[in-house]
Amino acid sequence: MLCSPSFLSCDFENLEKEIKSISEAKWLHFDVMDGKFVANKTYDQDMLKEIKQYSNQFFDCHLMIEKPEEYYQKYIEAGADLITFHYEATTNPKKLIKDIKSHNIKVGISVKPQSKIEVLDDYLADIDLVLVMSVEPGKGGQKFIQESIQKIQYLKSKKNENDYKFDIEVDGGINFDTAKEVRKAGCDIIVVGSFIFNKKNRNDIIKELENV
Ligand code: DX5
Ligand code: ZN
Repeated sequence: MLCSPSFLSCDFENLEKEIKSISEAKWLHFDVMDGKFVANKTYDQDMLKEIKQYSNQFFDCHLMIEKPEEYYQKYIEAGADLITFHYEATTNPKKLIKDIKSHNIKVGISVKPQSKIEVLDDYLADIDLVLVMSVEPGKGGQKFIQESIQKIQYLKSKKNENDYKFDIEVDGGINFDTAKEVRKAGCDIIVVGSFIFNKKNRNDIIKELENV
């Protein structure tokens, strides 16, 4: 599995140092919240531009925002490599998938814990990634929702049956125990926030998580 650290819970006073402390990670998970789709509000594309100055990582951009079709281009211009939007946040996912792909970057679709995973059936052939939210989106440090395991298993079986190419990413409440469980269920990429940023030896933790 690949580990994509979410720096939502990092020390923003020392951002450059914090990003450098996870240099072993190939991906960086960039959480964007608008205060509408979720209650909290975070940084936007300007922060992405800033971090790009001292990171060569693959920018895995998770848009927890309403009307992603109106904003996604700003993140592409800022240097996103993958844009994941929420199924619940837009009225025409098919069009948005096509539009994002036309910029030659990867596209992902995500579902909140309360959404049924089957709502994504129509999009699985066209996307690069499915992001299963294993906590309610909006903040770090929450407990893993166990039903996410069945969602991963469902996606994995769809992949096998249809030879789909998308990756399965899981976001929220990941530690060594839940990382083992999601790996067994078929997960390819884990997003990990507080479990990494609570610690000092972050690069070791990343490697360990990738090899659970
Ligand atoms: C939650 C975000 C996550 C979160 C993960 O809305 O999408 O990326 O920060 O943090 P932990 O690993 O602490 O659950
Ligand atoms: Zn996220």
